[in-house]
Parts: sequence; structure tokens; C-alpha cells
Amino acid sequence: MDSQEKLRDEVLKSVAQAQSLDTLEQIRVGALGKKGSITGLMKELGALAQEARREAGAALNRLKDEIEGAIHSASSELKDKELTRRLAEERVDITLPVEVETQGRIHPISQTIDELTAIFGEMGFTVAEGPHIEDDFYNFTALNIPPEHPARQEQDTFYLPQRQDGSRRVLRTHTSPVQIRTMLSQRPPIRIIVPGRTFRSDHDATHSPMFHQVEGLVIDKASHMGHLKGCLIEFCRAFFDIDDLPVRFRPSYFPFTEPSAEVDIGCSREGGGLKIGAGGDWLEILGSGMVHPKVLENCNIDPNEYQGFAFGMGIERIAMLKYGIPDLRTFYETDLRWLRHYGFVPLDVPSMVGGLSR
Ligand code: DAH
Repeated sequence: MDSQEKLRDEVLKSVAQAQSLDTLEQIRVGALGKKGSITGLMKELGALAQEARREAGAALNRLKDEIEGAIHSASSELKDKELTRRLAEERVDITLPVEVETQGRIHPISQTIDELTAIFGEMGFTVAEGPHIEDDFYNFTALNIPPEHPARQEQDTFYLPQRQDGSRRVLRTHTSPVQIRTMLSQRPPIRIIVPGRTFRSDHDATHSPMFHQVEGLVIDKASHMGHLKGCLIEFCRAFFDIDDLPVRFRPSYFPFTEPSAEVDIGCSREGGGLKIGAGGDWLEILGSGMVHPKVLENCNIDPNEYQGFAFGMGIERIAMLKYGIPDLRTFYETDLRWLRHYGFVPLDVPSMVGGLSR
């Protein structure tokens, strides 16, 4: 075997064995580069006689073509292999479930407000708001609670310092003043709910100095006690998600409604646990009534032409009942473990998640 043939075998063998494009490039430079073995042989051609040079030159050119061809196909083979490897390795599994961002939680108060707003929203109510610091007029007097009225004492009011004219503003003790503000600024028909903060000087496992209520007010020419009942039965059943939840209207007294009724839902207290919806027991959850004619008059609405109903309830209370939260004070302790346990995942309305370990 002459030296050319030996060289050919060597080069083609290493091309066949090359595992990377880098190695191939080294082989190419080693054979065909400026100082490469084939290039070296080309340079030696000059020393040959014309006839021999032509022959040897042609043979070298064939060898050169052959090596170039072999490198080229080896290189595209390696590129193919590399691409196949990357496609396999970097494949995205589009069937994998999306990882839900579970960092934030919606507080049960916000969740409950969202839920009741959605239910009353379906019934055509819109949301109204009012200030936390109220004049005596809106919080009491216009609601038919005159200065000497005993209801004022019952409400454990927070008073602000006396003003120059002797009046004292209050932290609203209920959301009912927003009824007055709405009736004074809007003409009937009115159909609002008022979720918001309320304040009373009281603190134990079922009372907090700051808590939330939702008020409802309907004023038009035709709404009567039957509408009040239908609306509140519907709300209770939708909110607690129990189609046949027993709902009872019990005569009661509020200065701003006549007649007035407290609303109870059916429950059982057997075995120490409270179960909503079944059993022979009752649980009070809200106050309601037909808006008192004096309240309408205080808002410049003619009680001979208009009537309607109102209701009010504690948001913490219905949240505690629905979600089994035992202590009211924990709502405001800003304990993240509590929030992870009782809070709600955004967009995943309204399932509870987690537990203390998460
Ligand atoms: N304001 C009452 C309270 O805080 C709740 C209430 C009862 C509101 C009856 C009403 C109503 O609008 O009609 O205890």
C-alpha cells in the first residue's frame, strides 16, 4: 500500500470515528488545511515531471474530494444526531398540569363579601358604600333612634371628641346609616346592599370592636313583606348552598322597621357540633323589616307612595357558620397559618384549601 493510500485510510477512519464537529474540524485542518497532510503532498507535486505530476495531481484531487465528501457527510450526520438528542432532551410535556400559584389567600371576610354580593347581584342589587365616621343624624336620628332612645345605649358606641357646636360624631355602629344617605341622594326605586365595617365597644369570642355587616334596602311602590321573605329565604339558601334550608321569620323590634322580623335558619346542635340545614333547632342570622314610615319621611320620601324593606346581618357571623370558624377574634390576628387554613385560593371560588401544615 503506498503512502497516499495509507493516508487515505487513516483520514477516512478517523472521520468515521469522530464523535463531534470539533474533532471533524481538527481532522479537516490536519488533512486539508494550509499545513495539512494532503496539502503537503500537493506542494510536492511541483518536483515531479509533467506527466507524473498530472497523474499524481489528479489522484490527489480525487483523494481531496473524497475526504471533503466524507467530512461533509459525517458532519451532517453529527448535526442530525445532535438535533435529535436536543429534541428528545428539551421536549416540553404539554399535558403536565399548570402549577397554580398558591402563595396568596383571599381572607374569609373578602370571600364572604364576594359571595353575598354575587347572590344579591343576581337579584338586581347594586353595592353602596358610606363613611365609617358618621354624624349622629345618619347613624341614629334619621333611623328613628332619637337621643333618649334605649337602642343608643345598647350599641356601645365609640364617640369622637365633642365639636365646637357640642355635637359628637361616631364610628358607625351599623351599616344602616347608608340607607339614609342613599335615600337622601337617590330617588326610588332603590335596591342596594351595603357591605362594610362597623364599630362597637365590645370584645370577646363573638364580638370584636371592628366587625363587618351587610345592609340591604329596597324601596319602590310595591315591595311588601312577601318580597322581603322571598328575597331573604333565597339568599340564605344560596349562601349556605342548601336548597331546602329551613328559614323562619320571628317577630322582633327595630326602631327603623315596622313590622320587624328576625330571621333564623334551621340547624342541629346534637352531639355538641353545629350542623346547618337539618335538625329541629334554630339559629338567628339576621334582622329585617319593612322600612318605618318615619324613616322614609326623614329622607323626604312620601310613605303613602313608597315602601320597601331592609335587612342587616353580621358578615363574620355568617362566615363563621358557613366555614366552621370557631373564634371571631382570629379574623383579625393576621396569622398566616390561619389564613392558609381558612383562606381561599384566588380564582378557585369557593373551595377551601390547605391546612396548618401547608
Ligand atoms: N342595624 C341592625 C343592627 O346593627 C341590623 C338591621 C336590622 C338592619 C334590621 C336593618 C334591619 O336594615 O331592617 O343590629
